[in-house]
Amino acid sequence: MPTFDLIVKNGTLTTSTSKRIADIGIKDGKITEVGEINAEADRVIDATGLHVLPGLIDTQVHFREPGLVHKEDLESGSRAAALGGICTFLEMPNTKPATTSVERVQEKIDLAKEKSHTNFGFFIGGSEKNLEEILKAEDLEGCCGLKIFLGSSTGDLLLYKRDILLDIFRKVKMPIAVHSESEPRLLERIALRDNATSVHAHYDWRDAESALESTKMIIDVAKEAGRKVHILHLTTREEMEFLSQNKEHCTIEVTPQHLSLCAPDIYDKIGTFAQMNPPIRTEEHRTGLWEGLEAGLVDVLGSDHAPHSIEEKEKGYPHSPSGMPGVQTIFPVMLHHMNEGRISLEKIIELLSETPAKLYSLNKGNLDIGTDGDLTLVDLKESWTIQNEDQASKCGWTPFAGLEIKGRPVGTIVMGQVSMLKGEVFDIDGAPIKRGS
Ligand code: DOR
Repeated sequence: MPTFDLIVKNGTLTTSTSKRIADIGIKDGKITEVGEINAEADRVIDATGLHVLPGLIDTQVHFREPGLVHKEDLESGSRAAALGGICTFLEMPNTKPATTSVERVQEKIDLAKEKSHTNFGFFIGGSEKNLEEILKAEDLEGCCGLKIFLGSSTGDLLLYKRDILLDIFRKVKMPIAVHSESEPRLLERIALRDNATSVHAHYDWRDAESALESTKMIIDVAKEAGRKVHILHLTTREEMEFLSQNKEHCTIEVTPQHLSLCAPDIYDKIGTFAQMNPPIRTEEHRTGLWEGLEAGLVDVLGSDHAPHSIEEKEKGYPHSPSGMPGVQTIFPVMLHHMNEGRISLEKIIELLSETPAKLYSLNKGNLDIGTDGDLTLVDLKESWTIQNEDQASKCGWTPFAGLEIKGRPVGTIVMGQVSMLKGEVFDIDGAPIKRGS
């Protein structure tokens, strides 16, 4: 029996705090040696000239299975993830039917075991009536947390009644992630959407106040319950300022699209393809997010990969659905920002691997012996262009088409198995995440 299943040789091993050239040996899904390794292995990958990172984790994707598989499924979504250097995805519950019971989470886990090219975790969705199911899901391997839509978006999940939220926050121990937009305010102002003559109305209807009002409410609930809440896809300068005073009660996610795109330009350019919730906002907010990130307030980057077909997007506002793909481009787009001098590779690793692992209590996020054998290999010298034709997502488009990037994910190693190498994706056994492992 060879000593290792896989040796990755001579790469520049890079974490958020260290960098050195060495080999990594993986056996039975775990990193078992780091240094100069001269031993037998089933497979050896020469990583000379490449950077080897702790496997990247995308903590917010919508892979649409079951129910909406014309726009994505667990095979195509995880293929896109592998191509983007993502070793683990955490998937959202607004499928059809919504994932609101242990049985439905288990169905997704079983499907992913068959189909996924990466590791996986699934959120259970919160409703007004399913606290018992949520509590049962806490013990389920492969369930990463609870997702609550405080404002309505794609699908029918919605929960914003304060007393029910407080009860849930008091009883649930696993991570609680929220989509934070105020449903009462969205409803009050819905005429802005219904009478819209262009998609530009989207960020007026779902305005910054809608996000802030909801975020203030949920922080108040978290405080009263004495726990933290994870605020997904934060979009406003005002929320960032408010949360900077409440960091002991929250963790914060931002997306590359909210860091990269802004209104009105992107709506002028790609119309409803720029429509998402919470919306892409003005430059003032975009710079507010960067300032928050630079001040250390942001904990994780997530893609909010939310594919919709071209036909659906072309229905015209307000009939077009909200969301854009991102799991394949999240890391490349951040490499683009790295080359602009806005963020370091070490910080990207912190936000896309180390802190996501800590937030969800996973045995991932570093390159220490005993950690899960997930690695992302990146060639920082390769120049290429993001193109619609290269997207593995069934939706077949990306808001970043045409963006020239230096640096490319060239290998995705999942529990010691080669999921992607130089753009080729392989069938492997992705594993359900284990919280507390
Ligand atoms: O724009 C969005 N699309 N925001 C969400 O919250 C959901 C997502 C989707 O699933 O389409």
